[in-house]
Amino acid sequence: MILQNRVAIVTGAGSGIGRAGASIMAGEGGHVVVADVDFINADETVREIVDAGGSAEALVLDVTDDKALEAGIAAIARRHGRIDILHNHAGAQVAGDLEQVAVDGFDKSWALNVRAHFMAARLVMPLMTAAGKGVILNTSSSSGVLYDREMIAYTTTKHAVIAMTRQMAGDYAKFGVRVNALCPGWVDTPFNEPFIAQMGGREAIESYIAEKVPLGRWANVSEIAEPILFLVSDRSSYMTGQILVVDGGETVV
Ligand SMILES: NC(=O)c1ccc[n+]([C@@H]2O[C@H](COP(=O)([O-])OP(=O)(O)OC[C@H]3O[C@@H](n4cnc5c(N)ncnc54)[C@H](O)[C@@H]3O)[C@@H](O)[C@H]2O)c1
Repeated sequence: MILQNRVAIVTGAGSGIGRAGASIMAGEGGHVVVADVDFINADETVREIVDAGGSAEALVLDVTDDKALEAGIAAIARRHGRIDILHNHAGAQVAGDLEQVAVDGFDKSWALNVRAHFMAARLVMPLMTAAGKGVILNTSSSSGVLYDREMIAYTTTKHAVIAMTRQMAGDYAKFGVRVNALCPGWVDTPFNEPFIAQMGGREAIESYIAEKVPLGRWANVSEIAEPILFLVSDRSSYMTGQILVVDGGETVV
């Protein structure tokens, strides 16, 4: 098992891609801290992992709350004495072009998609540098490398995640800490429900994806979990500052 004895914090692990990533890490022997604002979702992920024979605990918090994040990470560090992996995954999509987007939605997008990643990384980094190793994975999106129609809050924050990943990777490689970014394309999770509503329903999104994605379909969460496992494990030990796009070919065209 490739993550035996490692402690991983996964934010947004109560659902979708975050849950699949948490499960695959636990399946490889990692102890996973399921950090999510939704208690019921977090608890369900923990139960799924434990029922499958893995090890996990819930950390219920809003990652944009600095004090809660600091206290939560400190408690994990105290309890386990180490944090080997941080997957900054929780994020939100607020629709709208420059003039349509709600200004407070724009600010909230930056707080969750960028600033919370920054804060969590800042809080785990002293433990990682002291250990001389550690892995941070930041979830961006194919929207981090693409123009995305009428999505200025989402694309700007997801582009920023990539810039921040590269910057952290450059600054902390000398301490043995690797930092990479994951850019999923269309993954069928509750995350897309607001966009589906905006598009006018399931049928509209299906034809959009069939046309825009060369593989012609959604990804399922297990197809994103495998690249997550690769990026947080020693299988990617010589990789830092990189952007892994897993999008069915959407960014090729
Ligand atoms: N699903 C996709 O198609 C897709 C594509 C590209 C990128 N992403 C990225 O993946 C991430 C989430 O996607 P998903 O499909 O796993 O979503 P999801 O909706 O299935 O799960 C998101 C989880 O994050 C939690 N969360 C939200 N705000 C939080 C906060 N402030 N503090 C703590 N937890 C919070 C939610 O409670 C939920 O459990 C986002 O960063 C998103 O940009 C998703």
